[in-house]
Amino acid sequence: MDIQDPEFWKAGAVSTTVVMLVVLAFLTIDSLQATRAGGSHVPTYDVINDQIGYRYDWRRHEDVPTIGGEQLLFGKRYTEAQATALMVKGKLVIQSRACMDCHTFFGNGAYYAPDLTKAWLDPAWQQIWMPMTGAKTRADAMVMFLMNPEKYPTWNRQMPNLALSQEEARAVVAYLKWMSAIDTNGFPANFGKPTNLR
Ligand code: HEC
Repeated sequence: MDIQDPEFWKAGAVSTTVVMLVVLAFLTIDSLQATRAGGSHVPTYDVINDQIGYRYDWRRHEDVPTIGGEQLLFGKRYTEAQATALMVKGKLVIQSRACMDCHTFFGNGAYYAPDLTKAWLDPAWQQIWMPMTGAKTRADAMVMFLMNPEKYPTWNRQMPNLALSQEEARAVVAYLKWMSAIDTNGFPANFGKPTNLR
């Protein structure tokens, strides 16, 4: 081995590139396994038929979603195909109204309004919005808020009315419920309005 020989450095560059390509391919496949619906960290879409909770895991030192027991959304049991169609609609509504101009999903987006990753689990639905709207379930309170955010404000920043139909608002709520069941490795650690923002 002669370190003066350019062939030595060429072989080094080629072998490093090949090894890193193999590592990258492995990491990509591993990430896709974890992040697709039905993967290790993401439930299938029919999780919207279930009760979702959030509990502190002392071994991992972070909050993890719990999934268990039936809790139907809008009184209906969705098949996997129906739930998938609803997710597609919810995602299109979210994209077409550019919710990310103000909100974040998984931390991506704008920081004007709360992160929505765990919005379904926000205790404010039971504590503030259900009494305020008179809705009997969290899902109904969310629909009422999403259709008339200016009517049910809880903060000194207000969400504008984005003219969502009831069908669109319901699809968004289904999407938010599914998203809250994703194991995000503890992110975000809290809900709703950041206390350092006014
Ligand atoms: C112009 C900025 C803006 C846009 C665009 C916007 N929001 Fe909001 N949103 C807010 C603000 C501000 C709040 C806090 C309002 C309050 O509590 O009264 C909020 C609150 C919320 C909440 C309650 C969160 C919680 O747990 O406190 C949800 C859910 C929500 N928005 C969903 C959406 C969805 C879905 C869209 C797109 C269809 C959207 N928002 C678009 C500004 C926005």
